[in-house]
Amino acid sequence: MEIITVANNKGGVGKTMQAYQLACHLANKGSRVLVIDLDSQANMSSTLGVQIQRTLIPEWLIGDVALEDVVVPAEGVHECIKNISLIPASRQLANLAKLFILSEGEIRKEAGRKERLLRKRLEEAKDMFDYVVMDTPPMLGDELIMALVASDRVLIPTQAQDYSIDGLEELMDTFEIIKETENPGLEFTIIPSMVNNRRKIERQRLEELKMSFNCAPPIGNRVQMQESISLSKPMFKMPLKSKGRQEYDALWEFLNI
Ligand SMILES: Nc1ncnc2c1ncn2[C@@H]1O[C@H](COP(=O)(O)OP(=O)(O)OP(=O)(O)O)[C@@H](O)[C@H]1O
Ligand SMILES: [Mg+2]
Repeated sequence: MEIITVANNKGGVGKTMQAYQLACHLANKGSRVLVIDLDSQANMSSTLGVQIQRTLIPEWLIGDVALEDVVVPAEGVHECIKNISLIPASRQLANLAKLFILSEGEIRKEAGRKERLLRKRLEEAKDMFDYVVMDTPPMLGDELIMALVASDRVLIPTQAQDYSIDGLEELMDTFEIIKETENPGLEFTIIPSMVNNRRKIERQRLEELKMSFNCAPPIGNRVQMQESISLSKPMFKMPLKSKGRQEYDALWEFLNI
């Protein structure tokens, strides 16, 4: 089972988009995919056709609720969806911090540190899925740190138009600390996202990005992509000649998945 997290503490950079396309791509190839929505905005859950009143993610993490009780099938018209299971989010994810404080003693006994809880829960599920894809919120909180501790790779969508290499370097420093202390196998890839190639400044920044980081082929800013999310129609369902589909095919090839 390979665990992949999509993360960036900056909002609106295309995290949910990449996580959705990745999950659908893997499911379309026949893999059993578990998607975990760790963002209380629950955008990934609604794109996968699921809206719930109250998420049980906090209770699952501390071991009060079993995996079967938090996982639901994804909903949608496309064939690939049947291979996707989802742990949906809701606003109650905000209770996570509170529950962690209340359960501090048990967490210490079970996992040593709260950051390791998700890794522990996923170890228990390792024979049930081929891939886990996690969407994370736009902040460096418990959800994101737990996801990074549990993951094999992290994909970092980054906008070329207004990213600052300084900001990204700061984020990468945090990721490096996690790699050094908790998860030596963690691999990072930057995915330039919503790139407008007609703008010179964006092309220049892309080049700078490529020089500083392990950088995947870019995903352009395309109306078609917005429609993909709003209509829950994965990019591989778009015509072969469509630019967006070609960009995603190039991305999967680069990532070797
Ligand atoms: N390549 C793209 N081309 C055009 N629009 C895009 C592209 N990728 C994402 N979008 C649109 O940009 C908006 C933000 O994307 P998305 O929700 O994936 O970002 P996010 O990083 O998950 O945001 P948040 O931090 O709020 O969770 C959405 O409306 C989405 O449809
Ligand atoms: Mg999102």
